[in-house]
Amino acid sequence: MMPFIVPRLGLDLGTGKTVLVTNRQIVYNEPTVLVADLKNNRVHYIGKAAADRAGKLGPESEVIRPVVRGAIADYAATKFLLRKVFSKAMKPPMMLRPLVIASVPIQLNSVEERALCDAAREAGAGQIFLVPCNLASYVGISGNLNDPRGSLIVDIGAGVTDISVLASNEIIVGKTVEHGGDDLTAVVQRVLEMSFEVVTSRDEAVQVKTKVGVVRRGDDNILIRQADPTAEKKFSEKPVPADALAEFMRQALKPVIDGILETLEGTPPELYEDIFYRGLFLTGGGGRLRGITQFLEEKLDIKVHLADEPEISVGRGIGKILSEFGKFKDFFKNHVTF
Ligand SMILES: Nc1ncnc2c1ncn2[C@@H]1O[C@H](COP(=O)(O)OP(=O)(O)OP(=O)(O)O)[C@@H](O)[C@H]1O
Ligand SMILES: [Mg+2]
Repeated sequence: MMPFIVPRLGLDLGTGKTVLVTNRQIVYNEPTVLVADLKNNRVHYIGKAAADRAGKLGPESEVIRPVVRGAIADYAATKFLLRKVFSKAMKPPMMLRPLVIASVPIQLNSVEERALCDAAREAGAGQIFLVPCNLASYVGISGNLNDPRGSLIVDIGAGVTDISVLASNEIIVGKTVEHGGDDLTAVVQRVLEMSFEVVTSRDEAVQVKTKVGVVRRGDDNILIRQADPTAEKKFSEKPVPADALAEFMRQALKPVIDGILETLEGTPPELYEDIFYRGLFLTGGGGRLRGITQFLEEKLDIKVHLADEPEISVGRGIGKILSEFGKFKDFFKNHVTF
């Protein structure tokens, strides 16, 4: 009889998006969002379909973002989402429970880690291994299994920024700053409303953030469209000075800069030299912010390398770990067997 091979899945359950990997392929990459019907207590949409409907629903529907600042905030919704996501990778009926490697922020506490393991298990997972997201990204970027050199990794996500100095597949110093790309979106939204009297949706604010970034732009204005039933075309355009928005975003990045400086302060001298020689590796969707590499270089006086497709660096790294599982097993932060 053929022995059964336990399927392996990699999971990056982020505040903004969920990525699932199997056989080094990304098989799911969609927003961590659900739409539920409050009256019947049923989930109608998950992922992109749910995110596309946010803000366009009646009072009986609720948009749920079950992960907040990298940790599960709505357990039942997360379990539901994970069950659906796992079944996309493994055609039901699931004969064997898959081994799951899940990435976690550096400073997720043990209760939050347990919640993730429990939700994954109730959604169908068997053995679960947890790996710090910075370690997964570094494996994905460098392809190096056990690099003794010091590396500084910064992952600017939607809700958190993870910062760590790694060496020999271990986190030497690291921290999770509870601040990410969605905080910049919120700043844009607030500034537009308070200072320029323009009310924008979350999606519009993301578009403005993406367009402006933290690049210095002199006297440029950007035109922000707003609903105006009295205008001929039903919309009017309001000019807003781009540099004012960029400056607010630069200020909003202060917790990230401070987190990196604090991490460097706690770095042993042997690794400090490696880091300044090799530079900072930037990952996470926030790494796509226009001008962020130059901004960090100016603020920190260190070379910054932005990963390719930074929002899936973690997923790619977990894919590599999955494919060479035996070599990596000992490096996991936690090993939970049920
Ligand atoms: N081109 C871009 N310009 C600016 N910001 C961007 C761009 N693309 C993505 N982002 C931002 O990146 C963030 C999402 O990053 P990512 O997908 O790495 O987060 P996540 O892993 O889901 O969240 P977390 O790691 O915080 O739990 C969002 O705030 C998004 O608006
Ligand atoms: Mg992330």
